[in-house]
Amino acid sequence: MTKTIRTQVGIIGSGPAGLLLSHLLHQQGIETIILERQSREHVEGRIRAGVLEQGTAWLMREAGVNERLDREGLVHDGVSLAFGGRMERIDFKAHTGKGVIVYGQTEMTRDFIQARLDAGGSIEFEAPALAVEDYRTGSPRIVYQKNGETQELSCDFVAGCDGFHGVARESIPAEQLTLYEKVYPFAWLGILADVPPVNDELIYVNHERGFALCSMRSHTRSRYYIQCSFDDKVENWSDDAFWDELRCRLPPSAVEKLVTGQRLEMSITPLRGFVAEPMSFGKLFLAGDAAHIMPPTGAKGLNLAASDVFYLSRALIAYYAEKRTDLLDRYSETALRRVWGSIRFSLWYTGLLHKFGDDPFNHRLQMADLAYLTSSEAAGTAFAENYVGLPFEKFE
Ligand code: FAD
Ligand code: PHB
Repeated sequence: MTKTIRTQVGIIGSGPAGLLLSHLLHQQGIETIILERQSREHVEGRIRAGVLEQGTAWLMREAGVNERLDREGLVHDGVSLAFGGRMERIDFKAHTGKGVIVYGQTEMTRDFIQARLDAGGSIEFEAPALAVEDYRTGSPRIVYQKNGETQELSCDFVAGCDGFHGVARESIPAEQLTLYEKVYPFAWLGILADVPPVNDELIYVNHERGFALCSMRSHTRSRYYIQCSFDDKVENWSDDAFWDELRCRLPPSAVEKLVTGQRLEMSITPLRGFVAEPMSFGKLFLAGDAAHIMPPTGAKGLNLAASDVFYLSRALIAYYAEKRTDLLDRYSETALRRVWGSIRFSLWYTGLLHKFGDDPFNHRLQMADLAYLTSSEAAGTAFAENYVGLPFEKFE
């Protein structure tokens, strides 16, 4: 017989979206259970994003999970852009009064898993959700597997925080969804290594051999990316080959400071823009990568997952505190406004920095755009505003 358990909000996925939502709801006395397909070790070992907007850091503080963030997060007040033999800095702080925080998604995930478990929260690892049912009617159910048995989680609402390949979006009939997608013919090859970063801040590089990015996780751990073909494989790359190619693309001042070392991790990320509309269906709500992904150039994916959760948590809290349903009704359209704002920026920034074949016309346009961006106050401000993160809309 199928075992059924019950909670108020059933959450699929223990990525940043699911964990943050669960903890914010817990603080208002709302009960959740998270179902996660992978093991805790797997979730805590994944290397993903590295740049937090201030709004994301603010939400972490609101959730009370900020001790390590405040101690170890690196505040960056600008980035450098290298192109056409030049390197120019854009000062976020001067343009917007704000900066960003470099803090690994891996660390954020570890902090939240620990905080959920310390608070007695329930995360079922190795419990893949198979389908969401009856989300249009009174009592939605998540069908899932645990220890080889099929079980059910019955709840008031379901939050699909299960990423791009999850089942929440798959459970919605295709004809009720509108999908928007842009796939790029290239990918990023990333390396993580325990070597000091080449620069105090991030460097984004437009080079004739392709894009490169110098990022970091700490003063002793670096994260570097180079543009590669969409069908490239990690097996094709030795550490030496990676460092040689990176050296070719970096400006000479950075090459001088580059310290190389053995990989801790190497992975390939395809570049894609994708949005599924709407983000809610009756009592099923999508948040984060389950509803949208964007090329990582603008460092927006994790931050959008956090802003979705900001809107969804407020809507659920208003429902349980005051029986209000208007915020739940408006969740999709409100979240999507910010999603499209971030997609716009991420696609523009991707177009500015990557090599698209050998089209000299496009390359000349990129150089003109970069020259304008790094010399005009107005263009610098527009860039900085988007990079540090557009404000959350009032939602009350
Ligand atoms: P995920 O992190 O994908 O979490 C979804 C969870 O659901 C996973 O744990 C998965 O195992 C689980 N799951 C899936 N299916 C099921 C199922 N059927 N049942 C149960 N559980 C399931 N974003 C930024 O903001 N800044 C950056 O600097 C940045 N850099 C990036 C660099 C790279 C190389 C990559 C790949 C991404 C980057 N991103 C960045 C994007 C960011 O990592 C994602 O947007 C973010 O992880 C989204 O969080 P999420 O919780 O929505 O989804
Ligand atoms: C990262 O550190 O992983 C990172 C930083 C900035 C980006 C993308 C990824 O734009």
